[in-house]
Amino acid sequence: MKIGAPKEIFEGEARVAMTPDSALQLQKLGHECFIETGAGLKAGFTDEAYEAANVTVIKTAAALFKEVDFLIKVRPPTDTEVKRLKPGQTLISFFYPAQNEALLKAAEKTGANVIAMDMVPRISRAQKMDALSSMANIAGYRAVIEAGNNFGRFFTGQVTAAGKVPPAKVLVVGAGVAGLAAIGTSTSLGAITYAFDVRPEVAEQIESMGAEFVYLEFEEEQTDGATTGGYAAPSSPEFREAQLKKFRELAPDIDIVITTALIPGRDAPVLWTKDMVEAMKPGSVIVDLAAERGGNCELTRPDEKIVSDNGVTIVGYTDFPSRMATQSSTLYATNIRHMMTDLTPEKDGVVVHNMEDDVIRGATVAYQGEITFPPPPPKVAAIAAKKPTEKPKELTPEEKRAQEIAAFKKQTKNQVTLITIGAVLLLGVGLVAPASFMQHFIVFVLSCFVGFQVIWNVSHSLHTPLMAVTNAISSIIILGALLQIGSGSWLVILLAALSVFMAGINIFGGFMVTRRMLAMFQKS
Ligand code: NAI
Repeated sequence: MKIGAPKEIFEGEARVAMTPDSALQLQKLGHECFIETGAGLKAGFTDEAYEAANVTVIKTAAALFKEVDFLIKVRPPTDTEVKRLKPGQTLISFFYPAQNEALLKAAEKTGANVIAMDMVPRISRAQKMDALSSMANIAGYRAVIEAGNNFGRFFTGQVTAAGKVPPAKVLVVGAGVAGLAAIGTSTSLGAITYAFDVRPEVAEQIESMGAEFVYLEFEEEQTDGATTGGYAAPSSPEFREAQLKKFRELAPDIDIVITTALIPGRDAPVLWTKDMVEAMKPGSVIVDLAAERGGNCELTRPDEKIVSDNGVTIVGYTDFPSRMATQSSTLYATNIRHMMTDLTPEKDGVVVHNMEDDVIRGATVAYQGEITFPPPPPKVAAIAAKKPTEKPKELTPEEKRAQEIAAFKKQTKNQVTLITIGAVLLLGVGLVAPASFMQHFIVFVLSCFVGFQVIWNVSHSLHTPLMAVTNAISSIIILGALLQIGSGSWLVILLAALSVFMAGINIFGGFMVTRRMLAMFQKS
């Protein structure tokens, strides 16, 4: 099949749907690749680079549309582009069919097939084609960079000769793909990061990335992400009120807010209200990733950066992926290439548009002159079906004290039992064994007891120094064993050899573990 990428004509769009690398991969599937001249320039890919990857460069978009069987694009097609589609041709691009009804009808009339990259279902198998996620990942990263660009301080706290700098406090609202990328970037820059989401199952992910999950004291039956395709469901007005109350408490203390809250098919919920902006310190920054859908912040203006009366910068850009066009084109072109791999099962250049396949069916919004949107629900459960994490119950000081006393009593009881058993055994042995043996035996039993108590009570964080001490003890054991190994008794030789062997394991094992631990901290 012939696959071609035209130049994006949406104002300011710098991405391109095919890169020289993705073209090479498409050719391995048996396809021929075409590109409109200059289509990759803004993303850093020259016509020469495409030619070097065996891509035919075509002078005009009209000629490209005529030539190819598959059109791959980033932005939804314009009316002119739709008019150029032919029956049997397939268009792959973002399309947002729910918001673009008229465009979908126009595409249907042309008899062309349309695969909407934004309709790829969020199931595990389709992750490699999930362009919404790969673009949201970039948006989340870029949101933090943009916030840093408008924030007058460091993210990380520093103690310098010129003074002490406190770390920035960042709040991320909505921990989907964009939110998690923002959390990762913010924590890696050293900011104290808090995050909130209506889906409690993401608490673990948030905490594993080094941020603190903002818990709400509110009882509401949470929607399992799996039943809604991995997305959130709208929350009740009472929940929203509790959420706003919490945000009002946080607002004066937070330096940077990054909002990414979204429920598919709806306008973005307003979660950061005017009074919250007013409560923030001058110089604070809000980056509203949901600006395109109205914004999570009441004052956001889509595509603009404004400064509020009290000096808070509010960034409402809607083109973050395009601001990192090389990176986003590479990831988007890879998503498209994976879609083409699924459409070319035999890798022989022959496309099989299998409408029984969950992913292909889900993404196809127009097929053979008919609208096929909305698709039936996928047969496979969506990602994110983890059980909600419950916040550990906070104990009152009395409950804590009672717990400590019970633990102490249990420990003392165990120790008394052990000492009694030891004393009885010692007495028994003392009655039958000679006095010279008893002397050594008592030292041995006492060492075992002291050693056990010492090692058992060492906290985990001190296990590395403990290993060093046990290495010293192992060396003493080896010395003792070597002194004894020359004695005539075969039993002593055997015990000495066994001691050398076991102490050797301790020493060399310790070295190996230390080596592995050090390697974990070394940058490759
Ligand atoms: P997503 O659907 O994966 O994540 C949205 C998250 O918001 C979900 O975790 C959801 O549970 C949460 N959420 C929904 N309602 C909430 C509420 N009331 N309070 C707190 N959390 C709530 O979406 P994704 O892919 O992470 O995208 C996030 C946003 O970023 C979207 O609005 C998307 O359109 C936008 N975006 C913006 C770009 C730009 O250039 N400005 C580029 C890419 C994405």
